Amino acid sequence: MKTPESLLESINNYIDSLDYSKEPKGLYEPISYVLSLGGKRIRPLLMLMSANLWKEDVEDLLPAAVGLEVYHNFTLLHDDLMDKADRRRGMLTVHKKWNDNTAILSGDAMLILAYHYFMQVCCEQKEAMINTFSKAALEVCEGQQLDMDFETLSNVTEAEYLRMIRLKTSVLLAAALRIGAEYGEAGEENARLMYDFGINIGLAFQLQDDYLDVYGNPETFGKKIGGDILCNKKTWMLIKCLELADESSKLQLRGWLNRIDFLAEEKIAAVTGIYNAVRVGDLAQEKIEEYYQKGIECLNQVAVPDDRKEGLRLLAEKMLKRNR
Ligand code: IPE
Ligand code: IPE
Ligand code: MG
Ligand code: MG
Ligand code: MG
Repeated sequence: MKTPESLLESINNYIDSLDYSKEPKGLYEPISYVLSLGGKRIRPLLMLMSANLWKEDVEDLLPAAVGLEVYHNFTLLHDDLMDKADRRRGMLTVHKKWNDNTAILSGDAMLILAYHYFMQVCCEQKEAMINTFSKAALEVCEGQQLDMDFETLSNVTEAEYLRMIRLKTSVLLAAALRIGAEYGEAGEENARLMYDFGINIGLAFQLQDDYLDVYGNPETFGKKIGGDILCNKKTWMLIKCLELADESSKLQLRGWLNRIDFLAEEKIAAVTGIYNAVRVGDLAQEKIEEYYQKGIECLNQVAVPDDRKEGLRLLAEKMLKRNR
């Protein structure tokens, strides 16, 4: 069995070997830029670690793993434009460094490149793997649309939020794990369990992302703290606050959601103050632990000797205890 470190190294080497020094520069430079900023590369790692549960040699799966990472990076280019985000991975976002049209078109090219890399895999399971990818890739768009719709809705429920983050975030992590299982010819039941493992840790992962957006350390997080508050994102913490805060705090919170003219830092400080008073950050951490446990229960049922699954257990834990 490969170590997660050696699999990550293969992924990084593969991505570093991609040559985007092509014309027109305006299209390819931003792709090279965003990929050079790295990121955690969790999705391709999950795919390879999943496959490695069943197959010793997962080298041939690398193009699909990289395709999935390129797809993920494409969603980030468009997401940062939609979320008006200036910073990612500690650097300027593509639409800030270049412009909106560049983020759109380089993003489009990356979506196509993702399929191009996927197609390079040579195995009988390829069609099933690409179907799993396509289904998730479309669901991400559905989730992103809901995320935007919710910005202007005032009564989003916890269930609606969970559905939205399942689509925008969980399904891609779940697909990575499922594709690994498909490549490994693990059988439908194991593939389903790996997918459900991914759905649950994906929910926990997005809850942690939302938590870090408020409580992260600006030095390590790499994105602007308070971005979700400024966009009126209906995060779990906001929804819970609207449910649990005292009447006067609820009114204040609603006031901030409806205000059009405000100083960014003032709004972030005021909303964070209300979150602190309700201790909604602690509640979010409990929720994260709950989904992590649910995920681990799915992983435990996968028909593979327990010690082989230890790496994935540890990775899932790291994903949720992360600070970036
Ligand atoms: C960011 O994903 C978008 C979310 C789904 C929360 P990651 O946190 O995996 O970002 P990188 O790729 O490591 O930068
Ligand atoms: C991102 O959710 C989901 C996708 C990119 C599909 P966020 O908007 O919370 O991700 P970040 O915080 O910008 O990375
Ligand atoms: Mg965003
Ligand atoms: Mg977003
Ligand atoms: Mg976020």
